[in-house]
Amino acid sequence: MDTSVPHSARIWNYWLGGQDNFPVDRQVGDRLRGVYPAIVDLARSDREFLRRAVRWLAADAGIRQFLDIGSGLPAAENTHQVAQRVAPDCRVVYVDNDPLVLAQARELLRSDPSGATGYVEGDFHAPAAILKAAQATLDFTRPVAFMLLGVLGHLGNDQEVSFVIRHLMRAAVPGSYLVIAHGSATSPGLVAAAEQYAASGAEMYHLRSPQQVKRFFGGLELVPPGVVPVPEWDPGTSRTAGADGGEDGAAEAYSYCGVGRKPA
Ligand SMILES: C[S@@+](CC[C@H](N)C(=O)[O-])C[C@H]1O[C@@H](n2cnc3c(N)ncnc32)[C@H](O)[C@@H]1O
Repeated sequence: MDTSVPHSARIWNYWLGGQDNFPVDRQVGDRLRGVYPAIVDLARSDREFLRRAVRWLAADAGIRQFLDIGSGLPAAENTHQVAQRVAPDCRVVYVDNDPLVLAQARELLRSDPSGATGYVEGDFHAPAAILKAAQATLDFTRPVAFMLLGVLGHLGNDQEVSFVIRHLMRAAVPGSYLVIAHGSATSPGLVAAAEQYAASGAEMYHLRSPQQVKRFFGGLELVPPGVVPVPEWDPGTSRTAGADGGEDGAAEAYSYCGVGRKPA
């Protein structure tokens, strides 16, 4: 592990108030916060979305299996903790490519005894290898929720992102779900911060418009309220502004999210 190069998992951990980061990550984290102070809210509200989405998937959609790709370092409420609070038998596999996440994975592996958790050191550029390794914990003949939160921006080409998503969703049975949160290209402050981030030597993060994020759900049924700014995602409320990936009233949104269901 090269601790002289900033890394997205550790900068994210710093913004979330964690201790698993190095001076270089804190320096970049502080610099980006100087350019765009709301970046800390972005990290926290993405985690809030994770909590709401996982709770909804377990409690309302009956999902019992989760594959969390680009899971990041353990945080206050990890996917298995949220899911197993609803249904202790939930099974969760975490995937990340940062060796520090692997070193801290113990936290992610403290499963309720009636469920299970697993950790795969993997790269989303290789979805087949992730699916193969996840089979040790997940049963792909039953529905799975694929979680891709804050990670797809590390792939710059939309077609490659769609390829990875299609590959994952092809392995899933109808009734499976795709969950995405993605940094927004509609916020000038975040665009400026992303430019600084790129100059820091960390792995590039490509911001996208809500329309681009919506296209990643092609072929899936979007759960209401659709692709919306992250703080607004709540399947219990139907919203008008930005509800289907439009930009009404959402020009400053820092992150967009959505949940899609694989139809029968
Ligand atoms: C911004 S963090 C998001 C963490 C978590 N999903 C969340 O929303 O709180 C992005 C994560 O993606 C991971 N990541 C970056 N590139 C990746 C890749 N090619 N394959 C797997 N994980 C990757 C990073 O190590 C980091 O943990």
